[in-house]
Amino acid sequence: MSSQTHYAETDLGETTFTVAPSSMKFGVGCLRELGSDAAALAMRRVAFFVDENVLDTEPARLALKSLHTANIDAVVFKGTHVEPTDQSFAEAADFARDGDFDGFISLGGGSVMDTAKAANLFSTYPDDLLAYVNAPIGRAKAVPGPLKPHIACPTTSGTGSETTGVTVFDLKEQNVKTGISSKLLRPTMAVIDPTTTHSLPAGIVAATGFDVFTHAIESYTARPFTTRDRPSSPDLRPPYQGANPYSDVGSMHAIRLGGRYLLRAVNDADDHEARHALMFAATLAGLAFGNAGVHVPHAMSYAVAGLNHTFRARGYENSDPMVPHGISVVVNAPASFRFTAQAAPERHLEVAAALGADTADAKLEDAGEILASRLTAMMRETGMPNGLEDIGYTKGDVPALVERAYAQQRLLVLAPRAVRKEDLADLFHAAMRYW
Ligand SMILES: NC(=O)c1ccc[n+]([C@@H]2O[C@H](COP(=O)([O-])OP(=O)(O)OC[C@H]3O[C@@H](n4cnc5c(N)ncnc54)[C@H](O)[C@@H]3O)[C@@H](O)[C@H]2O)c1
Ligand SMILES: [Fe+2]
Repeated sequence: MSSQTHYAETDLGETTFTVAPSSMKFGVGCLRELGSDAAALAMRRVAFFVDENVLDTEPARLALKSLHTANIDAVVFKGTHVEPTDQSFAEAADFARDGDFDGFISLGGGSVMDTAKAANLFSTYPDDLLAYVNAPIGRAKAVPGPLKPHIACPTTSGTGSETTGVTVFDLKEQNVKTGISSKLLRPTMAVIDPTTTHSLPAGIVAATGFDVFTHAIESYTARPFTTRDRPSSPDLRPPYQGANPYSDVGSMHAIRLGGRYLLRAVNDADDHEARHALMFAATLAGLAFGNAGVHVPHAMSYAVAGLNHTFRARGYENSDPMVPHGISVVVNAPASFRFTAQAAPERHLEVAAALGADTADAKLEDAGEILASRLTAMMRETGMPNGLEDIGYTKGDVPALVERAYAQQRLLVLAPRAVRKEDLADLFHAAMRYW
């Protein structure tokens, strides 16, 4: 298999990858133990960030009861914006600053977990919003020190934010999505109870499920960590290291689980086997991409989500119009993988096979096409938009999309081949319509 030669030493010199383990628990009903988990972190009065569609569900009741039993005062904040904005981050930070909390708990999807991370940061080390935001959009100031303890409990099988040191938001004044990255933002602990996904509408399972796929596929096809320069000091090794033998394990298993269970999980809320498997896939993919990084489809997604505030996706009828994260990524994925396959065809073929494509007699030069076709078929089966046109973009928007995607150099450098502005323009054109 390609992995044996994939990490051969190169002249650039990097020979080492790192793994910063995340503390996590995963299991049916594990939110019952939240009170003990919080007490073990010396929490007494917590900011409890919860998704408003989750607050009335059984898992949320169990979580709050468990905190109550452990004598922990939980002050509820349910004002998170679905896909947070600069303004919603500021409101959450005000709540956290005024509440004098000694810890944070988030129970929701990426929007809620990311909001809790930002509120923790800005209430602990106040500064203006752009101070910590990734350059060139922000000033990329280093997070000054440790934050308060944060237990993150995901309720979507999607982002993996419970184990990443990233928080993402929509910077409205510049029409661009961006974020803050620091290992200090990573939640202290992740508590992953897959029963939280029983209440998810089908459209949200599909959109968030494609976020999982793309995390896993992009991590697996990212440039190998051995193709980076060896850093002059270990501290300079980047958090996104490129594909490596550790991230490969989680990525590949997540791809297999997703390929087997996505359709079942979307179509039947009572298919708990499928929904729980997808939650585990999301966890694995989150660990993998938090370590290896993601590349072209995610870089393009920040532009797609940042420029369009009129789209309403199935399952998101109660939110303000926007392109949900998983959709903003997957609409770029078939075009992107056709492009990246040239640099790592074996890996793209392995992914296609893990997703169920027949690759027995496949030629390496067809790898991109085979993977793109398999993904496109899965998008059709689960009611995803048919490319960028379906969410309201036209060819006239391509220059603006390219500018915003090209600014995501942090991700583009992880692609297995160089990505020029002309390439991005071709990719956005190719992503307009797939079938
Ligand atoms: N920090 C990271 O590492 C990271 C990684 C990827 C994406 N993100 C960000 O995460 C956000 C997206 O998060 P998401 O995809 O998890 O979705 P989300 O948190 O935006 O929630 C999507 C919808 O699902 C609803 N919902 C959530 N859980 C539910 C449940 N159990 N039952 C019923 N409804 C439920 C919400 O109310 C909302 O309407 C985006 O802002 C994206 O940019 C962050
Ligand atoms: Fe993502």
